[in-house]
Amino acid sequence: MPQVEISIRPLRKTDLSEADRILRLAFGTFLGVPDPTTWERGVDYVRTRWLAEPSTAFAAEVDSQIVGSNFVTSWGSVGFFGPLTVRPDFWDKGIAKRLIEPALELFERWGTKHAGLFTFAHSPKHIRLYQKFGFWPRFLTAIMSKPINERPPNQSRWSRFSDLPRNEQEQNLKACRELTEQIYRGLDLSREIKSVNTQRLGDTVLLSTEDETKLVGFAVCHCGSGSEAGDNNCYVKFGVARPGLDSGEVFERLLDCCEAVGAFSQQGLTQAATKPIGG
Ligand SMILES: CC(C)(COP(=O)(O)OP(=O)(O)OC[C@H]1O[C@@H](n2cnc3c(N)ncnc32)[C@H](O)[C@@H]1OP(=O)(O)O)[C@@H](O)C(=O)NCCC(=O)NCCS
Repeated sequence: MPQVEISIRPLRKTDLSEADRILRLAFGTFLGVPDPTTWERGVDYVRTRWLAEPSTAFAAEVDSQIVGSNFVTSWGSVGFFGPLTVRPDFWDKGIAKRLIEPALELFERWGTKHAGLFTFAHSPKHIRLYQKFGFWPRFLTAIMSKPINERPPNQSRWSRFSDLPRNEQEQNLKACRELTEQIYRGLDLSREIKSVNTQRLGDTVLLSTEDETKLVGFAVCHCGSGSEAGDNNCYVKFGVARPGLDSGEVFERLLDCCEAVGAFSQQGLTQAATKPIGG
């Protein structure tokens, strides 16, 4: 039984600052950051995910105050939720469990075939919380980083989604869908690609065959402050290479292009710093 009266409702634009503050406080506290509210300063999960799809972001309220939030994302047949955060003075009162419920309802409504989340493998609390809803640990995902090589990649046959005219963007979204379909039926990154483009969070790298007739890989990159990467960083949120014998080589080329996008976008974002994005 919950020890407090909790209500769950859609997250509103006016909640974003408080939801952002709670997110940093919650992760910063869990991870033992000396001043938790400064956790991942410059990295934005709350506004970017809310802007991507406001109707799939949820707030938990106690006594008319927001005490937690959760964001649900659809990548076609694949769905995931998070970041899920609760204000630390309200932990262990059943609030996260209530915030997971609307995510499961959306997966049901969307007909999601594969649902998941990322969490902390070392935390029995997290593992148990999600197991209650039928989520079990599967892959241990390493988060890796390296300094960006600022030299442009020594190759052609790649482009940035943001550079393309509207009709070519549409064609490429279709090509991206056909590619991800080969990895998992119904997997569709269109919303993610469009959201990164419209919010100017970074760019999507598109890699083609020698004759430029077919897409062989793509990667959705967040770059710089105000994105999920943070200042001076490029974060490859999703990357895929066409399945086949040359997939390793394609993937390496793709990562080279991501570095180029990171170096390029960082310059762009610095120039745009006086004109906030998505405000
Ligand atoms: C993780 C987090 C969202 C959980 O929020 P919460 O409101 O405290 O969670 P709830 O109270 O709804 O549920 C927690 C469950 O874990 C259980 N639990 C707590 N500590 C536990 C432990 N050490 N071992 C096993 N289970 C534990 C609780 O008993 C509860 O289940 P029950 O009430 O059915 O017994 C919150 O702690 C948080 O914001 N953490 C920092 C940010 C974060 O890590 N977010 C999740 C990223 S994946």
